[in-house]
Amino acid sequence: MHPKRVIGILTWRKGQRFGEPDYLRKLVRAGQKLGAEIYLFSHQDVYRKAKKIRGFVPKAGGGWASRWFPWPEVVIDRYRRRVPEYIRLRNSSLFFFANSPFSKKWRVTQLLAKDERVRHWIPETHLYAKKTMASMLARHPLVYVKPGNGSGGKSILRVEHVGQKYLLSGRDKQYQVHMARLDSRMAVENWISRWVAQQRIADGNFLVQQGVDLGLIPGHVADVRVLIQKDEGGEWRVTGSGVRIGKSGSSTSNLHGGGQAFPFAPLIERCFGSKAPHIIRECHLLAHEVASTLEDYFGRMMEFGLDIGVDVNGRVWLIEVNPKPGREVFRQIGEKDTYAKAIERPVQFALHLARSRQSRQVSQRARRAGD
Ligand SMILES: Nc1ncnc2c1ncn2[C@@H]1O[C@H](COP(=O)(O)OP(=O)(O)O)[C@@H](O)[C@H]1O
Ligand SMILES: [Mg+2]
Repeated sequence: MHPKRVIGILTWRKGQRFGEPDYLRKLVRAGQKLGAEIYLFSHQDVYRKAKKIRGFVPKAGGGWASRWFPWPEVVIDRYRRRVPEYIRLRNSSLFFFANSPFSKKWRVTQLLAKDERVRHWIPETHLYAKKTMASMLARHPLVYVKPGNGSGGKSILRVEHVGQKYLLSGRDKQYQVHMARLDSRMAVENWISRWVAQQRIADGNFLVQQGVDLGLIPGHVADVRVLIQKDEGGEWRVTGSGVRIGKSGSSTSNLHGGGQAFPFAPLIERCFGSKAPHIIRECHLLAHEVASTLEDYFGRMMEFGLDIGVDVNGRVWLIEVNPKPGREVFRQIGEKDTYAKAIERPVQFALHLARSRQSRQVSQRARRAGD
């Protein structure tokens, strides 16, 4: 019998507290069902001299059991905090990772905005500066200001120009809603420069982005989440999609900020009728083009959660790329099979990598023996 393939999942841990315990529990279970030796570990669990890992697996009644595991053939990186020990480990060549390190929003947007294959889907984006803000406000009726290193819709400000007025609305780091109605561009520029100073995360920068009119549902912000993943043969596949609808009056759709998920196709069909299949196809095409373009820059990737905007005219825009996306959308809309697939695929892809690594090693050995 074949020995089991050994897959490690790298994540944050403090004592028995893990980043994303619910998802990781399901990921390990999915891997065990697929026949893998699979476990969680964090940076402090690597014993490189002994070539062993202190790994964790879910216990039947809840909690985690820990024991020694063999060195992983492939590691899935699910670490979501910028801890120095993690960054060091990530930049070392200790492990064979299924997914390469990825960059912050600004660099990713810049790369995509320059690339022929995808740039027509990218809203105009610049680094924030007071002057740039003024010129963006002069050219676009809707502008977003967001941290280049933020997440979950935090610290994002929406600025809308209606008649003689500017309407500003955003959420701060604590998800508190802030709003303002101002009459002059100068007042807006000052308000935003205060916002940026208050909301800055560490030494992070801010982006100013052309706003996409996501008013498919009046009074709400609605955007599309598409999950694209590598399958068991190493090919990109769209696993599923859903629409996230923000709370009434909210400037973002994020589920963490109170947004709710709905199935994608019915909403697009209701809004666009016979144009709907074309729009859905374009979202899938965008996902494939963006995934393969990003791989050219960053190296092998495993999955992306794309935030896609479909504006009121049916035009498709890419808003954000998430390299370690959640799967909650599918659970919320009750697509059980898609949810299960979304959890299985990373393990299937890691198993595929482990198999192809081994067959490469075997053929190299055979070649050497034949020399
Ligand atoms: N340029 C934009 N036009 C319209 N809506 C936007 C824009 N940028 C962000 N949003 C809204 O804010 C949400 C969060 O922005 P995003 O860039 O995805 O940051 P985060 O990392 O916080 O999720 C988006 O899902 C969307 O609803
Ligand atoms: Mg997002």
